[in-house]
Amino acid sequence: MANVLIYTAHPGRRYSHVNTALDAAASATDATCVDLMADYPRHNINVEREQERLLAHDTILFQFPLFWYSTPSIIKEWQDLVLEHGWAYGSNGTQLKGKTMMLAITAGGSADAYGKSGYNHFDLRMFLTPLEQTARLCGMTFLPPYVLFGALGAEKTDLLANHVAGYTQLINGLCNDTYDRAAAAKNDLIFADTIPDLVKG
Ligand SMILES: Cc1cc2nc3c(=O)[nH]c(=O)nc-3n(C[C@H](O)[C@H](O)[C@H](O)COP(=O)(O)O)c2cc1C
Repeated sequence: MANVLIYTAHPGRRYSHVNTALDAAASATDATCVDLMADYPRHNINVEREQERLLAHDTILFQFPLFWYSTPSIIKEWQDLVLEHGWAYGSNGTQLKGKTMMLAITAGGSADAYGKSGYNHFDLRMFLTPLEQTARLCGMTFLPPYVLFGALGAEKTDLLANHVAGYTQLINGLCNDTYDRAAAAKNDLIFADTIPDLVKG
């Protein structure tokens, strides 16, 4: 069994449909779920508490809506404070070595909007390179993000229900060590209908 820690962050709960549904699904799994905005509404992050949480888990998953091509600001604040030199990185900073980082992202833009020919000009993975490299600097494995494009209005179609079901499958796979991480790593992004086959036990 892997210990999975899910950090969720949404600054605008009043208008969230997708991440609120994802939170509910995650809460029903064996993962530890932490709502950063609920714990730290004024961003006064408790560094020792978060470092202890990290030490107690093998897989760290950040779930968030894409805001201005990046994370909501509290996740950046969390990185700035919690990933201390000499703890998370640097010659003596090895506490996260061997752990895994993954992202679960919802984007308002469609898949076509991302990439060279789309109005966002870059692939989604390009916008996420700071997180990917942060993971690498800390000696962590970065798994391809689980993504929902076109998230606005997804609750009015099957999109949301499929994505939420996929999220449950993914988290259970991470917790039970049945998520095929090697197969997943061959993809840029993971979607509800492309979750790699589970490793046969
Ligand atoms: C402040 C703000 C910035 C946003 N920036 C982006 C963006 O850069 N790219 C994008 O595709 N969607 C962007 N969106 C759309 C959100 O990603 C989308 O509303 C969210 O993923 C839907 O999930 P929710 O129902 O949980 O809020 C933005 C929305 C807000 C409110």
